[in-house]
Amino acid sequence: MEKITAIRGFKDILPENARRFWEVESIARQVFNSFGFQEIRTPIMEKTELFKRSIGETTDIVEKEMYTFADRDNEFLTLRPEATASVIRAYIEHNMSAAEQITKLFTIGPMFRRERPQKGRFRQFNQIDVELFGEDKPQSDAEIIFMLMHFLTSVGLKDLQLEINSLGCASCRPVFSKAVINFLKGSEKNLCPDCQRRINTNPLRVFDCKVESCASIIANAPRILDFLCSDCETHFSQVQSFLKDLRISFAINPRMVRGLDYYTKTAFEVKSTALGAQNAVAGGGRYNGLVSSLGGPEVAGIGFAVGFERLITCLPEERENNFKNYLFVAALGVKAQKLAFGLTNELRRAGISAEMDYADKSLKSQLKRADKLNSSFALIFGDKEIDEKQVLLRNMKTKEQQTMPLDDLLKSIIKIIKER
Ligand code: HAM
Repeated sequence: MEKITAIRGFKDILPENARRFWEVESIARQVFNSFGFQEIRTPIMEKTELFKRSIGETTDIVEKEMYTFADRDNEFLTLRPEATASVIRAYIEHNMSAAEQITKLFTIGPMFRRERPQKGRFRQFNQIDVELFGEDKPQSDAEIIFMLMHFLTSVGLKDLQLEINSLGCASCRPVFSKAVINFLKGSEKNLCPDCQRRINTNPLRVFDCKVESCASIIANAPRILDFLCSDCETHFSQVQSFLKDLRISFAINPRMVRGLDYYTKTAFEVKSTALGAQNAVAGGGRYNGLVSSLGGPEVAGIGFAVGFERLITCLPEERENNFKNYLFVAALGVKAQKLAFGLTNELRRAGISAEMDYADKSLKSQLKRADKLNSSFALIFGDKEIDEKQVLLRNMKTKEQQTMPLDDLLKSIIKIIKER
């Protein structure tokens, strides 16, 4: 029969990797909690309109990459391509700004973008996403970036490069956009068809174009930092000064525009040399007008998302099988198997990882499996040992064996474990 495979760009996370996801998640929860962030879980599907209005109609994500379909009642729905829009939708819907002036949230889960799959780029991928609402001070930009860098180094990432930029605000960015349009005028025919269109729809997107001819043209374009209004300029220089106070090294990248339209003022990306062409492990920035543009209150916002798969790729290789079974119950014979069945499950109920074999295989093959499962101990008995009311406990690492009375066996095993 023909086998059914996973969808292109959709990846299984196999057990040895799933454990690493789980470990990183628990560090994320711990770090974010210590900065006052609480977890929120939103649905993976939203009304299409939400993403169009937030990410921007003329971004690559909205134009080309969303998984959108008409539901049975003809409502357009989209698998979320990112989490910020959903978190803001929930923040507004549950009136969170009324409860607290400052709201700190994080969420972890799958996102969907129909990009061309390649190393580090998938169609379903996971993000660790953080959002902070209600604070406009540059300290909060520095704090968010500091938390991101602290988290990434806590999980073991090295050789990270932090890049920052300011994207201005509603008053200064249009002036910059105009300057970019003027700069590109005359070079239109040398731009790719997408960028020729972008000049009129969203000129800043030309900065993101991967086509070489476009990249070489835009390399000489005006720099946004020369167009910042005094408010944005002061904010940006204060962010830098707070980052220095926190001993976070960074480089200013005046060409970084990010792929989503909602950013204002600070934008940042973290790159790793351990990744290939898709070298951004995290990205984020401030989005001061976004909450109100989605029907919420006039509150400032800032956040970031870490690409979970890319983060895992950056971790040092680990080949060792870290799964550890505590006790393998090797039983030989009908009576012994019956006793082992009850005992194994009682041990599990007591919180001890235990395993047994139902196939009534030879002792040698049962111990082989115990080794494979990385068991610390094996409990060995056959029908004869049951009659003699004695069983053997074998230390799988030292190979030492001791006899144990059958009576109160569960209690004695638990005692041995507690004393270790
Ligand atoms: P983003 O830069 O689009 O930002 O995505 C953040 C990170 O997600 C990227 O740096 C990358 O590591 C990972 N990522 C993106 N696309 C893929 C993909 N196709 N396959 C694998 N990993 C991918 C956002 O999504 C914003 N919502 C971040 C943010 C939160 N800004 C403010 N708050």
